[in-house]
Amino acid sequence: MLAERGVLVSGNWKMNENHFEALKLVQELGALLLAGTLPPGREVSLHPPFTSLRTVQTAVESDHIPVALGAQNCHWEDRGAYTGEVSAEMLAKLNVRYVITGHSERRQYFGETDEVVARKIDAILRHGMVPIVCVGETLAEREAGDAETKVRGQVRAALEGRPTEVVASVVLAYEPIWAIGTGRTATPADAQEMCAAIRSEVGHFAPSATAAIRVQYGGSVTPETAEELLAGEDIDGFLVGGASLDAQRLVSIVRARA
Ligand code: 13P
Repeated sequence: MLAERGVLVSGNWKMNENHFEALKLVQELGALLLAGTLPPGREVSLHPPFTSLRTVQTAVESDHIPVALGAQNCHWEDRGAYTGEVSAEMLAKLNVRYVITGHSERRQYFGETDEVVARKIDAILRHGMVPIVCVGETLAEREAGDAETKVRGQVRAALEGRPTEVVASVVLAYEPIWAIGTGRTATPADAQEMCAAIRSEVGHFAPSATAAIRVQYGGSVTPETAEELLAGEDIDGFLVGGASLDAQRLVSIVRARA
């Protein structure tokens, strides 16, 4: 990481924790975070399921827990006949700051295309929040030597044509699909190489955004792997799944030395 960009560690709880469990987890996390300090420029976001957002928001605000509220997804319209969906406007009203979009699980299980992801990014930005845009290749794509082409294409589809200052404000998360939930973290060298490629791709259409845009790594990040990954100069934090469900483990990742 580059000191000026700071580090963002985001806990993606996925479809885990009912609102009672979420309250317990955020309180545990709060106690650990408030008992010490965060390294300078370090930020944390928590992404509970929709049903726990209000609970987590209330706990964070009343206990002054130093985390930003995040969501895992949203719809691209503000309101309407979309049964079961939640809009970016609704999330903004809950003081959500970061919204994950284009996660590979949504692309894979819910058919989200680059086009859908781009519309969701529009909605997130329209409501003053920051998208965390996930990109990443499958194992087959990596083995075929197509990983970089795939990831660069996803980055362009999400961000090309947007004003430079908007591009600079977005967070990209490189999550190789073969590393998600598998216990198989990308090597620090592979993660750094792809995060550098992502930044260079941004340079093709928004050259002045490259120094500012934050690029996270995600995929089986643990307290044991965090420090080495963070040493990569193009890695500005993590999108953490499994380990974010354990307050102690998440805080160890948050406090990893850069
Ligand atoms: P794991 O950390 O469980 O591999 O999940 C990564 C992820 O998908 C975060 O969005």
